[in-house]
Amino acid sequence: MIKIAPSILSADFVNLERDIRRVSSADYLHVDVMDGAFVPNLTIGVPVVKSIRKCTGMFLDVHLMIEKPVRYVEAFAQAGADLLSVHLEADHPDHIAEALRLMGECGVKKAVALRPITKAEAILPYLPELDLVLVMTVEPGFGGQSFLEPQLDTIRQVRALIERYNPACELEVDGGINSRTAAQAVRAGANVLVAGSAVYGDSDPAAAIAALRRAGQE
Ligand code: DX5
Ligand code: ZN
Repeated sequence: MIKIAPSILSADFVNLERDIRRVSSADYLHVDVMDGAFVPNLTIGVPVVKSIRKCTGMFLDVHLMIEKPVRYVEAFAQAGADLLSVHLEADHPDHIAEALRLMGECGVKKAVALRPITKAEAILPYLPELDLVLVMTVEPGFGGQSFLEPQLDTIRQVRALIERYNPACELEVDGGINSRTAAQAVRAGANVLVAGSAVYGDSDPAAAIAALRRAGQE
């Protein structure tokens, strides 16, 4: 089953509650946290996740594009995240392992994220305990960029590793997803599709979600 995860990065932050309700037919709500250091953009933090938690029962998929994410795992878990993803490039491997251990302790699902430069094999030390691997299909930092086709190879490689070592683990793709690239990504092995501009750039976000679902299932 293909899951759709609208990214609120493309929502209207003044009307965030309304824009969250508009995507309630989706599976996950994708929340992009950026620190202005790991990526050049700054977005939202713990208090906003806490407020989002109060206004929706949706599964909160929180993508941490921050340096040394281990510092914030407990805070985001307490704020109501259901899943946290930490970038493998954001800290020393020992600290990534510690971040995952803390996620387990806090009862949130565990994910690692890969920038386009990072090889699929980098997930191996963590894979047996992961709930999800996030493969970036753009350079993280901004919505509205074009899908990087070479990442289809990384998706295929990550899917092969998942099948071998942890078949229950999900494979999420993030960046430049539209009906065409959704189909490509699913064929390569993705089962969770993040989409910001394709959902919120449409005058009917629910129809856009349904279209992505159909594209992914074809
Ligand atoms: C980018 C973010 C994405 C972004 C995707 O760094 O991680 O989640 O919102 O936006 P689109 O779907 O517009 O590429
Ligand atoms: Zn994201």
